Parts: sequence; C-alpha cells; structure tokens
Amino acid sequence: MSPIICALFARLALVPTAFAATSTLLVSHFSGALFTLSLNAQGNNGSLAITSATGGCGTTPTWLQYYADTKKLYCWDESWQGYGTMAEYNVSSDGSLIVNGQAKTSGNDVHGVLYGGPSGRSYMATVEYTPSTLTTYALPLKAGPDRPYTVPHQMETFYMASPGPNDRQKDGPHPHQALLDPTGKFLIVPDLGADVIHIFAINAASGHLNACPDAQTAPGDGPRHGEWWSPKGNTSSPDGLRLYTVNELGNSVTGWSVTYGAGCLSLNRTQTISTFAGGKIPAATVYEGASYPAKAAEVHIVGNFLYAANRNDKLFGNQTDSLATYSIDPATGTVSWIEATSAHAFYPRSFNFNKAGTMVAVGGQTSSTISIIARDSVSGKLGPLIASMQVGTQGTYTNEDGLSSVVWVE
Ligand SMILES: *[C@@H]1O[C@H](CO)[C@@H](O)[C@H](O)[C@H]1NC(C)=O
Ligand SMILES: *[C@@H]1O[C@H](CO)[C@@H](O)[C@H](O)[C@H]1NC(C)=O
Ligand SMILES: *[C@@H]1O[C@H](CO)[C@@H](O)[C@H](O)[C@H]1NC(C)=O
Ligand SMILES: *[C@@H]1O[C@H](CO)[C@@H](O)[C@H](O)[C@H]1NC(C)=O
Ligand SMILES: *[C@@H]1O[C@H](CO)[C@@H](O)[C@H](O)[C@H]1NC(C)=O
Repeated sequence: MSPIICALFARLALVPTAFAATSTLLVSHFSGALFTLSLNAQGNNGSLAITSATGGCGTTPTWLQYYADTKKLYCWDESWQGYGTMAEYNVSSDGSLIVNGQAKTSGNDVHGVLYGGPSGRSYMATVEYTPSTLTTYALPLKAGPDRPYTVPHQMETFYMASPGPNDRQKDGPHPHQALLDPTGKFLIVPDLGADVIHIFAINAASGHLNACPDAQTAPGDGPRHGEWWSPKGNTSSPDGLRLYTVNELGNSVTGWSVTYGAGCLSLNRTQTISTFAGGKIPAATVYEGASYPAKAAEVHIVGNFLYAANRNDKLFGNQTDSLATYSIDPATGTVSWIEATSAHAFYPRSFNFNKAGTMVAVGGQTSSTISIIARDSVSGKLGPLIASMQVGTQGTYTNEDGLSSVVWVE
C-alpha cells in the first residue's frame, strides 16, 4: 500500500472513534458501596460497565456531591443508628475513588454541601432528616485510621409549632437539602416536614450560619430539593433569578422570585405546577395493607427547560416511573408543562444531566439501575434510552434500599 493510501485508511479508521465518547459516572448504593461506571456512547447506542467499587461512606450512602475543580467527591450516610460516616474521596483519572478523609456523624444525613472560606471549600453543611437538624463541620475531614466523631462547628435544630396536613408532617421538621444560592453567601434548606424553606446568611470567614426569616410553602407541599435558574443563563446576576423547588408530598414544582435585602435573601412564591399532566396524580399503590403514594424526588434545569422525577407513579409500567419536562418562559420565569416520559427506572431518586445537556443519567432506587437517556438540546425533550444497567442489588418495594445517587465526573 502506498503511503498516501495508508494515511487515508488511518484517517478513515479514526472517523468512528471521533463520534464515540466515554464518560464516567459515580453511583452510591444503600448497601454501603460506591461504584464507578464508564459509559461508552456512540449516538444513541451506548453501553455501561462498572469499572471499580469501594466503600468508606458508612452503612447507608445516600447522597453524592462532586466538585470538578478539586476532583473530590463527598458522600453522606443516611444511617438510622444514631451515628454515621461521611467521606471525602479523591477521584482518580480512571474514576476510581480513594478515601481522603472521613468523620463520624450523628447519623441520618440526607444531603450536604461545601461553603465558606476563601474558595467556598472550607466548611461543610449537612442536614439530618429525622433529628430535624442542620450541622456544619470545619474541613478538612480527618485522614488516617483514627477517625473520631468530628465535633460539629454548629448545629441548629428546627422546630414547628403544629403538625402539617400530611401524615409525614406529624412528627416534626424534615430538612432535606443544603443548597447554596448562586452567590455562595446564603444557604437554603427545604424542609419537607415543616413546609418552609429555611434561609441562612453565611459568614464566609467564620463559617457561622445566621438564620434569616423562613419562606413558607403551601400547606402539605413537603419541599425536598431546589435548583436556581436565570433568564440569561447567568445565575450570578440577580436579574430575574428564580429558585424552583420540587415538593415531594404535593407532587409539584414551586417557583420563587429572589430578593437580596440587607443581610438576608428572601423568597416570594410565584407559581406551583403539578409534576403530572393536568395535575392528575396517579392513585397510590396499596401494598401489604399500607398505601404508598407517588412522591416527587428531584428537580434539575438545563437552559430554559426544567425536569422533575416522580417516584412510584408507575406511569410507564408496573415498575417504571416518569420524568416530567417543562419549559421556563425566559421573560417571566413561568413554568409550563411539556410532557411526561419514561424514567426507565423504578423510584428515580436521583438524576443528573451531563454538562453538554445531551444526556441524563437516572438513578432508579428500587430497580437499582442507571439509565442514560438522550436529550434534544433544542426542544428540551428527552429521547431514546442510550444505555441501562443494574448496579448492585435491586431494592425491595417501599424500602430504603437499592441505588441512592448518581453524578457525572466532568
Ligand atoms: C451498538 O454498539 C455495540 C457495541 O458497543 C455494537 O455491538 C452494536 O452493533 C451497536 N448497535 C447499533 C445499532 O449500532
Ligand atoms: C488526595 O489528593 C491530594 C491532592 O489533591 C493529595 O495531596 C492526597 O495525598 C490524596 N490523598 C490520598 C489518600 O491519596
Ligand atoms: C453574570 O452576572 C454577573 C453579575 O451581574 C456579572 O458580573 C458577570 O459578568 C455575568 N457573567 C456573564 C458571563 O455574563
Ligand atoms: C410576590 O409575588 C406576587 C405574585 O407574583 C406579587 O404580587 C408580590 O408583589 C410579590 N411580593 C414581593 C414582596 O415581591
Ligand atoms: C408489580 O411490581 C411489584 C413490585 O413493585 C411486584 O411485586 C408485582 O409482582 C408486579 N406485578 C406484576 C403484574 O408484574
């Protein structure tokens, strides 16, 4: 073969690989394991494989937060035993995880975030569902084999004057997420039990959180998680800034306008829209004498499109739930229903889009699956299933087991 033909062949051989992309995902499982997955996708044809697995985040890893700038992963333990473990991992170039710090906690953490200090990475805030607490820690977490209970930097206990209308609001407040505002100066805590959004002003130097007045949801909403949106895609600008929260008990999404006042941020409820077409919530499942309603899980935004996950709605089969897609009007921030599509998962507790906004990874808790679904960047609609695999042991219906969280490493 002549050198020219040789070069031509070499170039042709490169063409298909130019369209194949490999991505890395990190997954937590309520059994105690953390998995690294590799996704190989060529158009809408992809495959997933587990490339490594580890532990280190206690008995019940429930939530993952990945920081691309430091290549560190944080994991929190939902342990109901009155103590738990949180862990910091170095994410290696092959996606494998190396424990870099751990601490014993008071247990039942459901979410956490880093904040404060010169680069926003000096303190950690966590929320504990049943103890109704918000706990902060000064970083770094201790490395090495001797990891005592880390004395919290600050602990706040939430109270409510009277029980809420939903059965799950009778026993007290249930803080569910620790979310920074886009400036990193405020911490937002949706409280499923108390029907409020707690707001704290952050003292960046000391790490101290100072309580601002709560924002009230509608009775029985049960807010779980939130995400920020701005009409120009620049959440650093307060112009038109909105917070959207997903209501686990009300099965809806609430929009909030945001005002930065003297020392405090305030939220004004502007809209609530169902996570189901026309507000028609599917009937609860009666199982072993108890009733299990659908419960919305998470909200995410890409551009001017908003997505919410429904658990246990079974809209796409006996063990297949839905994702809701909405558009956001860039002029007003008003959210409009587009459609429901298959989550390709049972109990989609966690989902995240890749940075390009071309794929969503859905973590099905009970199915214990990771499903990768295509996203159309123009219409915002979710498309075909690209790849899916079971990761770890399947969960059992209605129990807190199976897969808990998924993040992209990008
Ligand atoms: C999808 O990719 C796999 C390899 O990952 C390949 O075996 C299969 O033929 C491809 N299918 C299509 C429809 O392209
Ligand atoms: C984790 O990464 C940091 C650098 O970011 C390094 O100093 C540290 O030794 C690593 N920890 C482990 C346990 O490898
Ligand atoms: C985003 O908004 C902030 C505050 O108004 C401004 O400083 C920054 O330049 C904006 N960034 C972009 C990319 O427009
Ligand atoms: C809150 O929003 C409502 C409806 O959008 C509006 O009428 C009201 O003026 C707002 N209140 C504040 C304090 O911004
Ligand atoms: C429906 O799913 C449940 C588990 O959620 C299972 O126990 C039951 O057998 C399934 N029913 C059918 C008809 O597949």
